[in-house]
Order: sequence, then C-alpha cells, then structure tokens
Amino acid sequence: MSTVAWEFKEEHFRGKRALVTGAAGFLGSHLVDRLLACGCQVVGVDNLSTGNLQNLALAKESPLFSFYEADITGWSPPEDTFEFIFHLASPASPVDYRRLSIETMLVNSLGTKNLLDLALQRGAVFLLASTSEVYGDPLVHPQAETYWGNVNPTGLRACYDESKRFAEVLTMEYHRRYGLDVRIARIFNTYGPRMRPDDGRVVPNFIIQALRGEPLTVYGDGRQTRSFLYVADQIEGLVRLLAAPHAKGEVVNIGNPNETTILEFAKVVAELCGCEYRVEYSELPPDDPARRCPDVTKARQLLGWEPKTSLVDGLRETIAYFREILAGKD
Ligand SMILES: NC(=O)c1ccc[n+]([C@@H]2O[C@H](COP(=O)([O-])OP(=O)(O)OC[C@H]3O[C@@H](n4cnc5c(N)ncnc54)[C@H](O)[C@@H]3O)[C@@H](O)[C@H]2O)c1
Repeated sequence: MSTVAWEFKEEHFRGKRALVTGAAGFLGSHLVDRLLACGCQVVGVDNLSTGNLQNLALAKESPLFSFYEADITGWSPPEDTFEFIFHLASPASPVDYRRLSIETMLVNSLGTKNLLDLALQRGAVFLLASTSEVYGDPLVHPQAETYWGNVNPTGLRACYDESKRFAEVLTMEYHRRYGLDVRIARIFNTYGPRMRPDDGRVVPNFIIQALRGEPLTVYGDGRQTRSFLYVADQIEGLVRLLAAPHAKGEVVNIGNPNETTILEFAKVVAELCGCEYRVEYSELPPDDPARRCPDVTKARQLLGWEPKTSLVDGLRETIAYFREILAGKD
C-alpha cells in the first residue's frame, strides 16, 4: 500500500452526531472529550460495569453531550440519526474480563450485532474497537494486520480474544453483505489518565506500587515485551480511522511500535516516581504473550498517523493523575 494523500480535519465531526459506547471507560471518555472539542454532538452510553461517571465530568459540562446508563446488548437510543458510531463497550483488562467473562462475550457478540443493526438503520459509519489480543501469543513480530494470530480458543483469555475476533468478522460481514461503512481498530496497549488504579494492567500496577514505595510486581522473568501508546495518540488514531474516506472496510493497528521489556519499563516508572527500583517476581499468568509489538505501516500510510508522545512525557501525565487519586484516598 502506498501513502494516501489526505489531511485530517476536525470539521469532519463538527455539527454531526456520534454515538460512543463504553463512554464512561478509559478510552471512551477521552474519545468523548475529543469529539466534543471538534464541535460534534455526542451521545454516550455505558452500563458502568468497568467504567466510572467521574471520567465524564468534563463532558457533562458541554451542552453537546448526553448520556444513557444502559447495557448495549439490548438497547436502542431514542435519537433518530447518527453519522458515526464508535463501539468501545467491552471489559478490556484481564482482571475485568475474567470476572465478567460471559458478559464480555455477550457485549462483543450480541452488543456488536445490536450496534451494527443500529448503524444500518440510522445510516452511520461504524468503528469497532478491537484489540491486539486477536493476535493471541503471536509467532510473528511485529504484528501486521495480515497476521492471523495464535489464540488459545478455550483458555482463560479466550472470552475476550475470541469474542473480539467474532466481533471483527461480524463487522466485516455487515460490510460485505449490506455495504455498511465499517472500520476496525486493533488497539494495542494504551495508557494514560483515567485508567483505574485496580484494573490489573501493568501501567497502573507499577505506578501505584512505586508511589506507595512498594516493590513492583513483575510476572515471569520480566523479559517479555510490551509497547505502550499514550491515550491522546490512540484517540487521534481512532478519529482519523473513522474520518478517512478511503478507510471503509479496513482493519488498522493502532499502537506504539517501540517495544520495551517489562523490566526496562519498571525502571522508567520507578525513576519517574522518584522511588528506589525494587521488583518482586511472580508467576506468569497462562497464555500471557511473550512479545507484543504492532506494525503500524498501514496506519501511517492510510491515516497519516504516528505516535507523538514519548514514553517519559506520557508517563509523567499518568503519574500525576495517579498521585491525585492516591492523595484523594488518603
Ligand atoms: N485500553 C487498552 O489498552 C485497550 C487495548 C485493546 C483494546 N481496547 C478496547 O478499547 C475499548 C475500551 O477499552 P478501555 O480500556 O477504555 O476499557 P474500560 O473498561 O475502561 O471501558 C470499557 C467501557 O465499556 C463499558 N461496558 C462494558 N460492557 C458494557 C455493556 N454491555 N453495555 C454498556 N457498556 C458496557 C464499561 O462500563 C466501560 O466503561 C474496549 O472495547 C477494549 O477492548 C483497549
């Protein structure tokens, strides 16, 4: 694929109406804020199973924003039209989708079907928030969109991985059969303010432990790699993917191609939190991927997108957020 000459303009969203599912979650709430800043009318929906209304405090001040507390597996919004549907509702952290395993499969299957039907009825462009977990424990590095993955279909992560794979193919079948304008974002590890301190993911875990002066818990030997994308860069990728006229029916990785080992990452977090670097090793959870790194050539060429925020800058913002959360708790 060669680079497409196209410039993203915020006007694409101005005066239009978007539905955001999972609006009270980490990514959903940042997306809502971004769309509102573009002058878009935003309808948010969330059942608050893993989200938090506090994340929408800023959005609620806007006359362009409205919110429904509902489970999207059986919900229909009263609004007549939507130009855009961003479908982000789904538990996303391993701790959450283990606790809510069946709910996770239902929101990604029935919930996605419900939203696709809505997109058809209301004439909306549909974006599915999928995940790098569709690649499972990958045997190919870095992972390009053409890689089919290496997923355990009945393991402890399968409720998430396999239901996202189902959501992807359902989305593609609505595109093939009905010509629905769909786009699929394969989201890789994203971090930033508004992550839950107890969501079990490595970024909040390390920061909270470092701020409390505790040793950082490293699963396995810490040589497994992850690539962390700052939330503002992720949101930029999502709005571009939805807006790009030539991205109809496309699947695009959105993540940071800079790989770091968990041990290197622990050192950076400890340093930025101003604490002594101490780690404590614990057993690796089953099916934990050894390497995870996106090939983002397609996002670069199709969307003119690139991660902009350095790990240090992104972590500074995130650490400041968690400091406030901890101060509020004390
Ligand atoms: N954050 C990441 O690094 C990451 C990585 C890959 C994929 N994703 C995807 O991005 C999306 C958002 O992830 P997040 O990190 O913001 O997670 P999150 O848990 O903070 O947000 C998900 C939101 O969906 C809501 N929700 C869940 N089931 C619902 C239902 N049935 N009806 C209505 N609302 C429901 C939750 O209450 C929550 O507010 C998810 O689809 C996730 O799979 C995120």
